[in-house]
Amino acid sequence: VNQITIADLFAKHVSKQPITMITAYDYITGTWAQAAECDMVLVGDSLAMCALGYNSTTEISLQEFKYHVAAVCRAPGTAFVVADMPFGSFESSLEKGIETAVSLMQVSSKVGAVKLEVGSSSNPNGLRDYSLRLAEELCSRGIPVVGHIGLTPQRVHALSGYKAQGGADARRAEAIHRTAQELERVGCFSVVLECVPHKVSETITRNLNIPTIGIGAGKNTSGQVLVQSDLLGMLPGKLPRLAKQYGHLYEDSVRCIRTYMDEVTTGKFPENEKHGFRIKETVWLEYL
Ligand code: KIV
Ligand code: NA
Repeated sequence: VNQITIADLFAKHVSKQPITMITAYDYITGTWAQAAECDMVLVGDSLAMCALGYNSTTEISLQEFKYHVAAVCRAPGTAFVVADMPFGSFESSLEKGIETAVSLMQVSSKVGAVKLEVGSSSNPNGLRDYSLRLAEELCSRGIPVVGHIGLTPQRVHALSGYKAQGGADARRAEAIHRTAQELERVGCFSVVLECVPHKVSETITRNLNIPTIGIGAGKNTSGQVLVQSDLLGMLPGKLPRLAKQYGHLYEDSVRCIRTYMDEVTTGKFPENEKHGFRIKETVWLEYL
């Protein structure tokens, strides 16, 4: 089977079938996402926090991030792979942003697009968001781009925290809507809407031709994305409201490791006959 293409994603969108996307951070989580036959696998910079223990996505370097993109791409499967543009890898100039996007695409032929966080100024006469200009430059060079608007975690300080966007201020909701339309206009083939009120994301979805992928954006987007470590319950602690936990890998893993420890302590594991290796009788006698 061939890799899923943007045309395949559009066909799904046009026939009103929801598009599924999940994050992956390494070869193991990539293999799981691919085995489940998710349409899209996102190497999200959430891996900084969920797989590397950083406090914020702003702490990861492009070099560290690429190491993970490569690992995810080594997982076999047909999903359309999207790589995030990490914080610090594109802000200084359009040239730098283009170089970063090219270098992410060059990590593996499996990388089909980059994802870029884009701000929404609530001032319609204000300076056009730099990331919007970068999205346009990338699209014009044939680099497929997924825009990411609403709650943009790399801009956590600019947004004064991780909070829903556009629910308390009509101008803010309008700005997000306008940014989504701008992203379509400059050539993005999809837009991620994060923590946007579901009425707003539904309206945006209705007004766009490209598919919207929601996280904390309600059910009426063209598709959904979840963070794999949230979905599987890989880490202890409370999940954000937008996530749903379908598994308990953290508890399961700790329990399995404890069972292994118990078996080592009590001599139940390993068993010589089952897990060990034999020496030939003649060799054994000679060795003795
Ligand atoms: O990094 C990430 O996981 C993301 C998704 C939540 C959209 O950007
Ligand atoms: Na991200």
